Amino acid sequence: MTEIYRIAIDGPSGAGKSTIAKAVAKKLGIDYIDTGAMYRAIGYKISSEGIDPKDEAAVNDMLERTQIDFRQGDIFLDETCVNEEIRTPEMSMMASVCSQIPAVREKLVQLQRGMGERKSVIMDGRDIGTNVLKDAEYKIYLTASAEERAHRRFLELQQKGEEQSYEAVLEDIRQRDHNDMTRELNPLRKADDAIELDTTGLDIDQVVQRVLEIVGK
Ligand code: DC
Repeated sequence: MTEIYRIAIDGPSGAGKSTIAKAVAKKLGIDYIDTGAMYRAIGYKISSEGIDPKDEAAVNDMLERTQIDFRQGDIFLDETCVNEEIRTPEMSMMASVCSQIPAVREKLVQLQRGMGERKSVIMDGRDIGTNVLKDAEYKIYLTASAEERAHRRFLELQQKGEEQSYEAVLEDIRQRDHNDMTRELNPLRKADDAIELDTTGLDIDQVVQRVLEIVGK
């Protein structure tokens, strides 16, 4: 039997976590779990149902009748694929707001732990190495300067035809860093036993190579 191993990737918004994790998963033939997409899916549901994120009872009720899973890399919210819907700047903000709600974190962390139980996975997010998969075999903290991250996101949005100025994207990144790092519950921080990888100035292939070296594959 081949041994099961888990790779945890954490870091701030726009550090390239999902691009890198996806490429590494493909190389290693293991599953990729994008936990940010799960917070976005909850944000999408809250917003499309017009629920007030501060209304605890309504949020709890919504969580009870919500199913999230991944199928061949696509995210499904209650049996509907929401890959596209969750990738807007509005949903980035909604996800950030939702990720501060204790009941939301509790539900998603439980789901994420289940996903990393029986098979090798690479999971990315903000609290994977510090909370979700504390005993992961490999932990990587991916960073890049706020300016570089904003530049990458700006180009991505431009390609999608979404109009946002570089300054607005940078401001958005800074705001989300602040939210992620200062929230009460499982804030973003490097796990003591994580390896920090600064991707400023590196291209995707170089970072993927570094990760493969770290996990010794
Ligand atoms: O990585 P992303 O931009 O898709 O994440 C969306 C939001 O969800 C972001 O504000 C941080 C939050 N998040 C979190 O709190 N914990 C995670 N494990 C993953 C994402």
